[in-house]
Amino acid sequence: MSINYAEKIPNNVDLSADRQLQRALERWQPAFLNWWGEMGPDGDFQARDVYLRTATSVDAKGWATYGHVKMPDYRWGIFLADKTEDRTIGFGDNFGQPVWQQVPGEFRSDLRRLIVTQGDTEPASVEQQRMLAYTCPSLYDMRNLFQVNVEEGRHLWAMVYLLHAHFGRDGREEAEDLLERHSGDINNPRILTTFNEPIDDWMSFFSFTYFTDRDGKFQLKMLAESAFDPLSRTCRFMLTEEAHHMFVGETGLGRVIRRGLEVMQELNTDDPQRIRDHGAIDLGLVQKYINFWYSSSLDLFGADRSTNAAAYFANGLKGRPDEDRFEDHIEADTAYGIEEPTEDGAGVQEVEIPTRNAMNLVARKGYSKDCDIGVTRWNRMIRKAGVDFEIRLPSDRFRRTVGPFAGFHFAPDGTPVPKEVYESRMDGWIPSEADRAHIKSLMKQVTAPGKMAGWIAPPDRGINNNPVDYEYVRL
Ligand SMILES: [Fe+2]
Ligand SMILES: [Fe+2]
Repeated sequence: MSINYAEKIPNNVDLSADRQLQRALERWQPAFLNWWGEMGPDGDFQARDVYLRTATSVDAKGWATYGHVKMPDYRWGIFLADKTEDRTIGFGDNFGQPVWQQVPGEFRSDLRRLIVTQGDTEPASVEQQRMLAYTCPSLYDMRNLFQVNVEEGRHLWAMVYLLHAHFGRDGREEAEDLLERHSGDINNPRILTTFNEPIDDWMSFFSFTYFTDRDGKFQLKMLAESAFDPLSRTCRFMLTEEAHHMFVGETGLGRVIRRGLEVMQELNTDDPQRIRDHGAIDLGLVQKYINFWYSSSLDLFGADRSTNAAAYFANGLKGRPDEDRFEDHIEADTAYGIEEPTEDGAGVQEVEIPTRNAMNLVARKGYSKDCDIGVTRWNRMIRKAGVDFEIRLPSDRFRRTVGPFAGFHFAPDGTPVPKEVYESRMDGWIPSEADRAHIKSLMKQVTAPGKMAGWIAPPDRGINNNPVDYEYVRL
């Protein structure tokens, strides 16, 4: 179905055929716009024309148009991927049965919780990133930031549509609450910890879009498998948009690395202090940001051993990412090996648990593999520059607050260390105060078209075939 842009809320769900739902969403719309005005990108950027991509169809071949718009005029809408005829449930106890177009009563609260938790992360990240335009390294980057922000706003719409359309009054209340909680708010914070951490520098932004948006990708992939078909279709289209967010992260970190390498060559040094004095970012510091954001994003997958995850799988609510890749879609009596620290915390042991209980871990492993793709690319660039340094994802035992390793002390290479050593060495593993101060000192806004801050290399190409020095934001 094509998207109807004549309506107040662009959509491909035939919204005008359901007057009650349409009215309810039209009542939520001003509240959303109000939230966007107050909690979205700060300052007068909202009054500027930004070169943005807007979804206009769910057709894989041409689903978006590009043009300058003011962010408050962005056409946030409701788009579901096309229905797959005769789609059946792909996993769990109801494998092979027809998917659901309505929420079954017995799974109502579980599905609502899954949708609210996903929905909560979308506006949270907009709030986390609201000050970043003041320190953007280029106009191109400022535009990418705003693109990510408006699309997270649309992802909120995607989840709010499901709440309104399928969860009655409870759903409408949840939709209101999604605008009431705020990232970092002491009294009413966002649901997940990572989404309450401020993102006030661009190293954090690029790390977040690389690692945390990628967690989002995996959550969406799991929900795209859901037996609740509207949720599946919603998530499938969100994934199309999500790809750009991870592109921003991967190319962002890649450009930081490239600039660091250039400075090393220029100065003929690998002394981090000299690289920093020259206004760039040394590879060791990039590694520290990776250690921080990767470990924090792993926690978003939940406990490795989880009865909730088992129930979601058994009931068909949430599958594994790319469920098709697996041979056994039921996993009724199969076992899966998971790692746990030994009781004294001085070692690691493997134990077998029912596969269904290990679903969070299965998803997390897919995620780690996906994270490694960018790391391999960065390392190729580093090797090509003749520099002896290898970026590595830290061990998934490092710095965990969720799962079997929470509360234990493991180094980034996965070896157990005594608590005192762990604490005293942390400054060498994740950004220290001094590291953050250096990054902060680099955060100066650059907005002349085509110009880049000194700590980052230009991108290989611009957006939508435009040159890098295109006026992506008209300030
Ligand atoms: Fe999103
Ligand atoms: Fe995203």
